[in-house]
Amino acid sequence: MDDLAVRCDGLEKRYGDVVAVAGLSLHVQRGECFGLLGPNGAGKTTTIEILEGLIAADAGDVQILGLRWASNEQELRQRLGIHLQETQLSEKLTVEEMLRLFRSFYRGGRPVGELLQVVELEGKRRSRVGTLSGGQKQRLSLACALAGNPDLLFLDEPTTGLDPQSRRQLWEVLGRYRAGGGTILLTTHYMDEAQTLCDRVAIVDQGRLIALDSPQALIAARAEPKVVVHQGTLEDVFMSLTGRTLRDE
Ligand SMILES: Nc1ncnc2c1ncn2[C@@H]1O[C@H](COP(=O)(O)OP(=O)(O)O)[C@@H](O)[C@H]1O
Ligand SMILES: [Mg+2]
Repeated sequence: MDDLAVRCDGLEKRYGDVVAVAGLSLHVQRGECFGLLGPNGAGKTTTIEILEGLIAADAGDVQILGLRWASNEQELRQRLGIHLQETQLSEKLTVEEMLRLFRSFYRGGRPVGELLQVVELEGKRRSRVGTLSGGQKQRLSLACALAGNPDLLFLDEPTTGLDPQSRRQLWEVLGRYRAGGGTILLTTHYMDEAQTLCDRVAIVDQGRLIALDSPQALIAARAEPKVVVHQGTLEDVFMSLTGRTLRDE
């Protein structure tokens, strides 16, 4: 059995003249929380959607849990949890109905009551999705991703737009998932999130890998020994590697 949860080599994806992913190789260990960091437009979503089997790469090889999309799509769908950058939840369904629907996609999986408990939404069981706050919707979306009791969880910017309390609550849910042996690959542009959650991070820019290590090792490697004004953060590393130019699209 492959000891890697994600093995991708030489990944490439173009949109016309835009090179979204330019020969990326990533290896994620089982049980690891791996972060894909990068400024806007760096190719994070494109990369994660290729790994999730949602879009096709132009070149490169992808193995997820030792399997390939072309030959094992059914099995992979059963074993993965996916949290998209933008999820459209059905506003008219109740929280419970939404979870029952997702639960029905999987052969195995976790009981709805347990999912509600994991993401702390028991009190919202009969509320319509449309009435939930941003943080509650993100947690519901996470519960949907956990419905099949996945071996590997993909999360694209899971906490973007959330207030600090909601972010921490979501981090706790992810921590519990990992404690149960789960593997996570997430994208984020919050450096504190990466520092808190990730065993290793890959920093990408313009579809290329520019750094790969544990947050602590990246910080230590960039530290200026003579000017120890403050302990370096992952954000310092990120800024020095990707520059200060704004990437708003
Ligand atoms: N469907 C698409 N059509 C054309 N260009 C795209 C498409 N999806 C992404 N891109 C472009 O590819 C690059 C990488 O985008 P994306 O993967 O969304 O980056 P990130 O998630 O890191 O912000 C950007 O320049 C973006 O504009
Ligand atoms: Mg993105």
